Amino acid sequence: MTTPTLGEQASALLTHVAGFVAHRTIAMGLRNGLIGTLSVAGRPLSADELADRLHLDPFYVAVWCRAALAAGVCDRGGADAGLGGRYELAAHVGTLLLDAGHPGYAGGVFTVLELPEVFDRFEGSLTDGARMWWDDCSPAWIEGVAGTGAPFYTRLLASGFAQITGLAERLDAGCVVADIACGSGAGLVRLAAAYPRCTLVGVDGDRHSLELAARRCDDAGVGDRCTLVHGPLEEFTLPEPATLVINNISMHECRDIDRVAENVRRSLEPGGWFVISDFPFPDSVEQLRSVPGRVMAGIQFFEAQIDDQLLPRQCYDDLLRRHGFGDPASMQLSPVHAVTYARTVPASVTSASATAQAPAMAHSQP
Ligand SMILES: C[S@@+](CC[C@H](N)C(=O)[O-])C[C@H]1O[C@@H](n2cnc3c(N)ncnc32)[C@H](O)[C@@H]1O
Repeated sequence: MTTPTLGEQASALLTHVAGFVAHRTIAMGLRNGLIGTLSVAGRPLSADELADRLHLDPFYVAVWCRAALAAGVCDRGGADAGLGGRYELAAHVGTLLLDAGHPGYAGGVFTVLELPEVFDRFEGSLTDGARMWWDDCSPAWIEGVAGTGAPFYTRLLASGFAQITGLAERLDAGCVVADIACGSGAGLVRLAAAYPRCTLVGVDGDRHSLELAARRCDDAGVGDRCTLVHGPLEEFTLPEPATLVINNISMHECRDIDRVAENVRRSLEPGGWFVISDFPFPDSVEQLRSVPGRVMAGIQFFEAQIDDQLLPRQCYDDLLRRHGFGDPASMQLSPVHAVTYARTVPASVTSASATAQAPAMAHSQP
């Protein structure tokens, strides 16, 4: 590796400042309806028009518009030239930042990263390393996380399950599906809507999240097909064996992933699937320095406070093998989303090949 010049280093550091400015601009635009209003305006708006529609200060909105233009979030539209002019959302920005049902939705991550649970509380606990858990988090955090988890479910439903041989047919025919670490139930609702013949079980250790899940399922009219179970994933019991157990962006959080994997294996019918959908944490410095790697490095600030870290995807291959699942397979659904899956095998084969006594994995990270 060649040593960068001082000028190159300065430029690299300033890029981070520019990214911070763009991030704050986008999050502010989402929270205050600036991006939403531009997306439905139907024509480019001047800063004054945008301010007028939102009852905001015109001068401040002009400042925001210029920063959004600088960040590439907005383009200048209409006949007026110059930095004043009129503004419209740049291509695809509306989809990526506002369409929570789109597989590429990324709007949630901007607002969630600005909540105190990520950087502020971490920095405040830098001396004592105080830990917390989900029941110490604000309702805004719980809701925000549901927004960041949504595209993971979307991608599973849109293209992930179809790549797992035989699974889509079972889901269409109807079976029991468990979403373990279901959080506030966004995934349960999506699964129930996509597979109307399935019954669902949501398991989570956080009572507040489960209350939200119950309300969300009822509001969506699928409450009669969803059972909610409160408790740690290390100890849960399902009302009946499941055909599919999924865990979305939560497996890395488990205090004892070996006990969870063993529990999942016991909860599945013979030939049932365990699908682990998670952030694939980089296992090399080069990957860590990529854009997805840097985003995941940011997520680690929250994870540290609940006493875990994201894991390299390969850890889940080892985990599933240790617990007697058949050969694990994997797929990458986005730069920050990998899926690892395997089926249980009949009990006679499992007892011969399982090596559940193997030691817990080490968290290998750069
Ligand atoms: C990142 S959220 C994900 C929620 C949901 N799957 C989603 O994608 O929106 C993690 C959830 O896992 C739950 N959780 C983490 N570790 C757990 C454990 N060991 N037992 C039970 N629940 C756990 C938390 O309570 C929280 O609701």
